[in-house]
Amino acid sequence: MFSRVISGTVQGIDAVMIQVEADMSDGLPAFVMVGYLSSCVREAAERVRTALRNSGVSVPPRRITVNLSPADIRKDGTAFDLPIAVCILISMGIISEEAIKNTMIIGELGLNGDINGVPGVLSMVHYASEHGINRFIVPRANMEEAGLIKGIEVIAVSGLQELIDYECNGRKVIHDMNKSTGYYPDDCYDLGDFADIKGQVMLKRGVEIAVAGLHNIMMTGAAGSGKTMIARRIPTIMPKLTFDESIEVTKIYSVAGMLKNGRGLITKRPFRAPHHTISTTALVGGGVIPGPGEISLADHGVLFLDEFPEFGRNVLETLRQPLEDREVNISRLSGRYRFPADFMLVTARNNCPCGGWPNANKCTCTYKQIRNYNARISGPLLDRIDINVDVVRVDVEELFDHRENESSETIRKRVMAAQEIQQERYRHEKIKFNSGLDGGLINKYIKINGDVRDILREMYEKSQLSARGNNRILKIARTIADLAGDTDIQEKHVREAIFYRMKENGV
Ligand SMILES: Nc1ncnc2c1ncn2[C@@H]1O[C@H](COP(=O)(O)OP(=O)(O)OP(=O)(O)O)[C@@H](O)[C@H]1O
Ligand SMILES: [Mg+2]
Ligand SMILES: [Zn+2]
Repeated sequence: MFSRVISGTVQGIDAVMIQVEADMSDGLPAFVMVGYLSSCVREAAERVRTALRNSGVSVPPRRITVNLSPADIRKDGTAFDLPIAVCILISMGIISEEAIKNTMIIGELGLNGDINGVPGVLSMVHYASEHGINRFIVPRANMEEAGLIKGIEVIAVSGLQELIDYECNGRKVIHDMNKSTGYYPDDCYDLGDFADIKGQVMLKRGVEIAVAGLHNIMMTGAAGSGKTMIARRIPTIMPKLTFDESIEVTKIYSVAGMLKNGRGLITKRPFRAPHHTISTTALVGGGVIPGPGEISLADHGVLFLDEFPEFGRNVLETLRQPLEDREVNISRLSGRYRFPADFMLVTARNNCPCGGWPNANKCTCTYKQIRNYNARISGPLLDRIDINVDVVRVDVEELFDHRENESSETIRKRVMAAQEIQQERYRHEKIKFNSGLDGGLINKYIKINGDVRDILREMYEKSQLSARGNNRILKIARTIADLAGDTDIQEKHVREAIFYRMKENGV
């Protein structure tokens, strides 16, 4: 007897529907699986047979053929175990075909019949719900993420026996949930608050400007001056995630298998700080069946690269394209994989390899060492970092000052106001923030008066400012004016912007 159920798989963070078909016929007993499968999917045969037996179902010694279609999509992972088992149960007449009509089934089977959670459930449920499926049988461990999608029925099961009882008798409803209980904010990490940072007025201002215009930023300064401390707090001054952004971030963590059990929506902006020994694959994503890298895990949040010059040169080079496209595309024989990577890049470095400079008594580096250290970051990458802040050690008076500092919430309000101005200004453009301005758009949106032009001309002649450096100053000045709520770029905005520019020699 022939049976068919609907399941799904993910490619990148996008899902596709997969038909699982089983046929049981006379002939030599065998369990044959076809349909462009990885070895992991092939092993489902053993898991399914054993799980069924341990759930009290003995599969008759007949020829079972399972086909997963469409044939041109590579299938990987263990999520097909449950749909295959259900197919066999239908073929054996234990579950009726009617009972799983228009139902997507996803789940891994343990040998004892337990149903285990799998990655990517949110992507699959989201996609299928947009294509007319409104009923989902998912592992208990994935209930919360499936429940994030509105207007569908989620049946969460933790064992095969539970599912058989439910579908046969229809009496017992297991963990049946609807949308209203689907909210589980992710509050598992605490990044601190800007109020914790003493002094460092220039640094905090630089960071506020960077976030307001979504400019990438580099912090250069002595060891122990608070660079890491402030970087960790940057997500706390960014606007809260919108629901759609939250869904996208949650999908990425789901696909990466990093969504904790019992948690649904991620509602806080990610902060990722990979170590400088990270590989290219771990940073940008990839692998045999490509998975998301750190830059995608930082989507809609902050990617912090501490000790920036210590990262491998090749590793850093791979950042250039995603910084431009805001996503990663990986092509494989098995298909195209897309991962969003819309992050703010925050980098930190010391002035010299030992971290002692500019304190000449502390620094043990040679001139050549310092030069090599700074030359490690390529020009094209530095081009994508608009703001550079020199960080000095916090002043002793400020360190022992016990007055309240501004909280993250207060700064966030200013950032949001400045970002709203930008959204309005660029509503007909592809860009959303001042950081996205390039040649043509700079001329269109940044008008400067005579005084401002004089300052820039003077800068251009005195210090060896490049045309690119000039544009960068204009972009930052635009953001500073937006933070002040000023329509025109004024002299004071440009003067402040000059302060935060990247020095021309890349140091
Ligand atoms: N402005 C500050 N206000 C309060 N505490 C500070 C400040 N600056 C530094 N500290 C304290 O010093 C510690 C070290 O700071 P942090 O690790 O951020 O320095 P860093 O600049 O990243 O140093 P390194 O270059 O060695 O990485 C912090 O954990 C914090 O306790
Ligand atoms: Mg640090
Ligand atoms: Zn040194």
